[in-house]
Amino acid sequence: MNRFNNKIVLITGATSGIGEAAAYAFAQEGATVIVNGRRDERGEQVVARIRDNGGRAEFIRADVSRESEVEAMVSEIVSRHGRLDVAFNNAGIEGKMGDRTDQQSQDDYRENVDVNIGGVLWSMKHELQAMLKSGGGAIVNTASIFSQIGMPGMSLYSASKHAVVGLTRTASIEYAKDNIRINAVSPGGVETEMFVRAAGTPDENSEGRQFFTNFHPMGRISQPEEQAAAVLFLASDDASFVNGANLAVDSGWSIS
Ligand SMILES: NC(=O)c1ccc[n+]([C@@H]2O[C@H](COP(=O)([O-])OP(=O)(O)OC[C@H]3O[C@@H](n4cnc5c(N)ncnc54)[C@H](O)[C@@H]3O)[C@@H](O)[C@H]2O)c1
Repeated sequence: MNRFNNKIVLITGATSGIGEAAAYAFAQEGATVIVNGRRDERGEQVVARIRDNGGRAEFIRADVSRESEVEAMVSEIVSRHGRLDVAFNNAGIEGKMGDRTDQQSQDDYRENVDVNIGGVLWSMKHELQAMLKSGGGAIVNTASIFSQIGMPGMSLYSASKHAVVGLTRTASIEYAKDNIRINAVSPGGVETEMFVRAAGTPDENSEGRQFFTNFHPMGRISQPEEQAAAVLFLASDDASFVNGANLAVDSGWSIS
């Protein structure tokens, strides 16, 4: 399939995990991929791998929690390529986990809000301005299983991911007549650096890993490529009438 031939696709947080897997998948289907992140070396490695496979990619460093950096990134994309067709707003942090609500701090609150909510808000703001000028586009935001359920010790993360769905739903209605579709994906557990930070490595097979794995009706967590496949669907014309959805990619955890 070449669903993204001649499309300009921005992926935030593409230096690892789900974003990196999506970068390879979009490139494989013909897109020019703008790889965003804060780690230059990792970003350049992703770009090199795409180019080695005959694809097109560029790295642009930006911290998505800072509106000025997001604005500069989107305007750089538009000045280089003339437009932005697809945006996958995926950058996120897990923050400090484990503390109950009565132990939350102003610093952890700020970090979660700035990256997980602000990152999506500022990204959508500037992407939408570009897409309105060029006549349309598609946006996918990464929420989480914790956009739909709570979990002890994860109040700030869960609140921030509920907010990602609120932003997605609101914007999806606001721009529905502008030829811009906006959806979210809500992964369950995914084998990424974030999951390892939260639950340990596969080798350790720790209690934390078993605890999270057991929530999944399929008895396993997902690979980043399985999340990327859902993102490409939502971003493609295959999903031409899908707007404002929060697609659970969790093997059924959220409905079990
Ligand atoms: N791994 C899971 O189990 C899981 C489950 C549900 C949702 N998610 C969500 O998936 C998304 C991707 O996470 P992942 O699992 O691939 O982990 P990851 O840590 O490998 O990827 C997150 C990426 O975002 C980047 N990033 C963080 N803050 C940034 C900022 N301010 N500006 C730019 N880039 C920034 C990181 O450097 C990293 O490359 C996140 O939004 C996360 O909340 C992950």
